[in-house]
Amino acid sequence: MKVLAVCGSPRKGNIEAMLKRILDGAEEAGAQIELVLLRDKNILLCDGCLCCEKTRTCRLDDDMRLIYPKMFNADVIVLGSPNYFNNVSGLMKIFFDRFCPFWEETLKGKKAVLVVAGIEGGKSLKTTEKALENFCKICGIKIVGRVRAKAHEQGEAINNKKLMRKCLELGKKIVQGK
Ligand SMILES: Cc1cc2nc3c(=O)[nH]c(=O)nc-3n(C[C@H](O)[C@H](O)[C@H](O)COP(=O)(O)O)c2cc1C
Repeated sequence: MKVLAVCGSPRKGNIEAMLKRILDGAEEAGAQIELVLLRDKNILLCDGCLCCEKTRTCRLDDDMRLIYPKMFNADVIVLGSPNYFNNVSGLMKIFFDRFCPFWEETLKGKKAVLVVAGIEGGKSLKTTEKALENFCKICGIKIVGRVRAKAHEQGEAINNKKLMRKCLELGKKIVQGK
């Protein structure tokens, strides 16, 4: 099983720490794992040309050409974004928009785990989570796990033992199919 995590935070912070711990759990359970840090990639904005409606591919030449196959080959995709104004980060949104050529078929049947973090935590993270969920729904991806964290400072999540344990266990569960 291949588990791919996609980090939509522009810093090495809470989302990255949670994603890494989920991947640790998945690896312990026998999965092949990979983390994509969107902030390290050159990802152009979708310019709305809609060429993809005819060609079923994207004409923009950037790092998405390397990321697409990783997404297509993954069994489970772990999507992580901080709460930015009750939405996903700009990085994550730019990434989503680049699936215009592929939303109809290519990701159908895959599984996803949604990971969000913000100052307040709890219900305040609903709309950010919903934005991740909308992408999954449109692409036919089944959501199999969720983690919401109250975290703000850079080292907060990694120092939260309970949260890290939850992430590790979730990583194992998604591979074991529990
Ligand atoms: C531009 C920006 C907007 C934010 N908006 C919110 C918000 O609306 N609600 C909230 O609870 N936290 C908000 N935050 C706080 C982040 O969600 C929080 O610091 C989170 O832990 C960041 O995750 P990261 O460490 O993975 O980057 C915002 C932070 C930034 C930089």
